[in-house]
Formats: sequence, C-alpha cells, structure tokens
Amino acid sequence: MKKKILTAAALTFALGFGGAAQAAPAGDIPSRDFSFDGIFGTFDYASAQRGLQVLEQACMACHSMELVPFYTLEGIGYTEEEVLAIAEQYNVEDGPDDRGNMFERPGRATDTIPDPYPNEQAARAANQGAYPPDLSVITKAREGGPEYLYALLTGYTDPPPGVEVGGGLFWNEHYSGNQIAMPPPLTDGMVDYQDGTEATVSQMSHDVTMFLHFAAEPHMEARKRMGIKVILFLIVFTGLLYAVKRRIWQDLH
Ligand code: HEC
Repeated sequence: MKKKILTAAALTFALGFGGAAQAAPAGDIPSRDFSFDGIFGTFDYASAQRGLQVLEQACMACHSMELVPFYTLEGIGYTEEEVLAIAEQYNVEDGPDDRGNMFERPGRATDTIPDPYPNEQAARAANQGAYPPDLSVITKAREGGPEYLYALLTGYTDPPPGVEVGGGLFWNEHYSGNQIAMPPPLTDGMVDYQDGTEATVSQMSHDVTMFLHFAAEPHMEARKRMGIKVILFLIVFTGLLYAVKRRIWQDLH
C-alpha cells in the first residue's frame, strides 16, 4: 500500500513537473513541408535570407537572439563581406574604455543582434507582464518544433462566439491556453522582399521559421552529410567483413 502511494506521488510529481516545463500547444498542429525535412533535407537559403529580414523587421523589437552571432549567417549563403555589412547596421554597446565608460560601436561578425530590452523586468513591463522568449533555439524548445512555430504565427483568429479574451491578450488557435500576450506580429505586405516574393503572412511565417530553424541548428546539413557517410561506410564495411569471414572459414567447411 505504502509503495503504491509513493509510486503515485512520484508519478504525479513527474507529470506535473514535465507539464510545467513545457506547455503542450493547443489543438492539432497542421503538418507542413519544409525543405529541411528528412535525412536528405537542406535549408532553402533564399527563404532563410528572407526570414532574416522578417525577423529583423517584425520580431526583434521584442525578442532577443543571444546565441546567434552574425558570422553564423555564412551558413545560409552570405559572404564574409555581406555578414560584416549586416553586422555594421547595428550599434553594439562595448567597453569599458580607458575612462571606465561604456560606448557604442558598429557591430562585428562576432556580435549578436542587440537585445531590445536591457533586462527581463523591462521586457515584462513593456508586454503586460509576459516575457518574449529568446528566439535563438525556439524551434528546438517547443513541442512541434518548426511546424508549431509556423502554426503559431498563422494561428491568430477571432475567438469562438461567447469567449471573452483577457485584456491585452490575443486569441491564437495553436498557443497553449489560446490566449497569448504577443500581438499578431505579421500582416500581409509588411516587409518588402527584394527578390520579388509576395510577402503574405503565410510566406513570411514560412521564411522566418526557415531562418529560426537554421539558427537553432546551423550545423544540420553537415550533421546529415556525416550521417549518410557513416551509414554508407557501415554498409561497405559489413560487406567486407562478410567476405573476409567466408574466406577464413572456407577451408573449414
Ligand atoms: C510586440 C512585441 C512582440 C513582437 C513584435 C513579437 N513577439 Fe513573439 N512574443 C511576445 C510576447 C510578449 C510573448 C510571450 C507571450 C505570452 O507569454 O503570452 C511572445 C512569445 C513568442 C513565442 C513563444 C510562444 C510559446 O509557445 O511560448 C514565439 C515562438 C514568438 N513569440 C515568436 C515571434 C516571432 C517569430 C515574431 C516575429 C515574426 C514575434 N514573436 C514578434 C512579443 C512579441
């Protein structure tokens, strides 16, 4: 009896703890195809570059990207010079100088996009107490990954009839609990894509998801290439071992 109670308590604790660590998204997440799916999947560089533009213009006013230095962008087809040009558009705080003062200088390849808020309290104060999470590894940090992110960004609708949405909150079909403090961040035509792609909410959501999944796992392509090589090697090696085994045993049979 005592054992049963203990097991039940442990289970409740484990379930409760797991639930608190990661709230499950609401409803079924619609599946969506991305170029990086599957073992041969790669990033679509043009889409990821557009996604960076969306991120800079539509997300970075509230969110940070503290784990992604500018040089990472070489992984989606930017040259070293282009990366530097992107970094230099930002003013980054540095210091202290010889007099002990902090100062601002243009960004370098080793910097990250500067945070929008000086600290968490300031971020919460500006967002009705909610904290806009850092987006560096967001596609890895949420159940449903990239598909969830796309669903979230395209999931803003009117609430069902009779449902009252809390002050400062917005109805989202895929957010856990449906009421989110993030205002719909995208509207059609919000960014001006240089390659002529039409900037619909769906397209921008796809592109920013492509970029954020790249940011979360910049070495994915190398990892997959290595995996394929290892499997090929193992197949050849198994064949070789089998041939050697037959050779050694042939006199004994
Ligand atoms: C006006 C500020 C603001 C902008 C702009 C903004 N966000 Fe948010 N975002 C928030 C806040 C606040 C939260 C926390 C919501 C909550 O806790 O209810 C949030 C939460 C999120 C989450 C986490 C959702 C979850 O499951 O916990 C993701 C992902 C996200 N934002 C992505 C984006 C992306 C991508 C963009 C740009 C396309 C963007 N946000 C633009 C304020 C913003």
